[in-house]
Amino acid sequence: MGKSGKKRIIKILDTTLRDGEQAPGCSMNLNQKIDVAKRLELLGVDVIEAGFPASSPGDSGAVKAIAENIKDSAVAGLCRCRKKDIEIASSALSKAVNPVFHLFLATSPIHMEYKLKMKKEDVLSQAAAMVKYARQFCAGVEFSAEDAGRSDPDFLCAIFAEVIKAGAETVNIPDTVGYVMPDEFSRLVRYVKDHTPGIENVVLSAHCHNDLGLAVANSLAAVSAGAGQLECTINGIGERAGNASLEEIVMALRVRKDILNADTRIDTTQIYATSRLVSQVTGVKVQPNKAVVGENAFAHEAGIHQHGVLAKRETYEIMSPESIGVPKNRPINQMVLGKHSGRNALGTRLAEMGFHPDEKTMETVFLKFKELADKKKTVSDRDLEALIMEASPAVPETWKLEHWAVNTGSALGASGTIRLQHKEGKANKTVSLGDGPIDSIFKAINHIIGKEPNLELYEIGAITGGSSSQGEAMVKIRWHDRVFNGMGVSTDIIEASIKAYISAVNAMEWELKK
Ligand code: KIV
Ligand code: ZN
Repeated sequence: MGKSGKKRIIKILDTTLRDGEQAPGCSMNLNQKIDVAKRLELLGVDVIEAGFPASSPGDSGAVKAIAENIKDSAVAGLCRCRKKDIEIASSALSKAVNPVFHLFLATSPIHMEYKLKMKKEDVLSQAAAMVKYARQFCAGVEFSAEDAGRSDPDFLCAIFAEVIKAGAETVNIPDTVGYVMPDEFSRLVRYVKDHTPGIENVVLSAHCHNDLGLAVANSLAAVSAGAGQLECTINGIGERAGNASLEEIVMALRVRKDILNADTRIDTTQIYATSRLVSQVTGVKVQPNKAVVGENAFAHEAGIHQHGVLAKRETYEIMSPESIGVPKNRPINQMVLGKHSGRNALGTRLAEMGFHPDEKTMETVFLKFKELADKKKTVSDRDLEALIMEASPAVPETWKLEHWAVNTGSALGASGTIRLQHKEGKANKTVSLGDGPIDSIFKAINHIIGKEPNLELYEIGAITGGSSSQGEAMVKIRWHDRVFNGMGVSTDIIEASIKAYISAVNAMEWELKK
């Protein structure tokens, strides 16, 4: 049965750039983080958690740069309950229009005994003292009781009451290890709401992890129990099995607002582009059957379903692809633009897709578009997205591809020849032998750059259907303890692979120089 009356607006705190980025293989460089933050602002998230400033100078720099670039969303920095963390966050957030200090301290018996080696009373007083300290710098202070899901509910109420007295404006209940069941979580949120003095004056938040696949269900249970903020990430990326996925939470609230009586301020038509961007910059693909943003989320294969959807879309679709901003030309290999399309048509299509390249990037994209349109009859939105990504590299190009050749066959080994141009002027050419064309050419690149990074991941796929489709390659390379991503696109899969490898090398060179 539906409910009526005024819908509550649930705040969305996106932590893609903090909890998401901290997951293995999801790291992003500074420019990529700024791009993602701008997208999140367009998407309309209330709070962008930009990083953990005290964790490294790189994180602190990223929070600072994001704080300087974002105007419409609040920007949060994570802090342990330590003065030093708060001071570092205060300098990183000094330019934020709307800063939030997000303090956390664990409250579960297991964390207090083994990790913190602290008594309950000390945890409580340290949390209150640090919230009070943070309030000297700004009004936006959130306190998270880490591992709240496994904490004593009465202790949670006691610590929340103290931090509220100390000035917290948001208190957060994280299910840090993804352990809790929806019913149980709903009871916990309601208990905290009913037994914490002062809770009516602050925002009650929930932050769920997905270890049992329940992060979204638990987040929605928290809303039903009275939570006013949810913490989540794009594509659900995050520690271990990830965080609650923003797009699933937002669309569940939108599609079933009749039941949940709540909604968000998110512009859902920006969801698809944001999901694609996060996938591109992290090099982490979205599983095809992922709810809302997976490649198959709106594909109807079975004849009976196709028949139903053609007769009336709502027979098998509970939300439309347009509502999350899936480009209109899906299925993705339908014609959008061809070789006779001009700059205007290209610009209009890019703007419809949410891209607003500057003049120089537009010039490059247009030339590449013409080249591509000569090779392929039709150029799809996915092709355009790839061209845009390639034309605006997130890091300076230390090395540029000039040309390449491979020789391979069943009886011979493979040999790869490559010529790269260094940005300071010297061009280098070399030939290497290898176990196959990719191995030989990657070895040749290593020879030129003078390093042998470990190849952690190499994936190649077709962007669209058909034999004239562009190949899209993803590469992850490890240099000591750091992993760098690269992506490359071409109608030739070997060239796509080379471009991906060089873009990962450029990310590595840029970071190592800092
Ligand atoms: O999962 C967690 O407990 C966290 C907190 C720092 C909010 O990410
Ligand atoms: Zn978390």
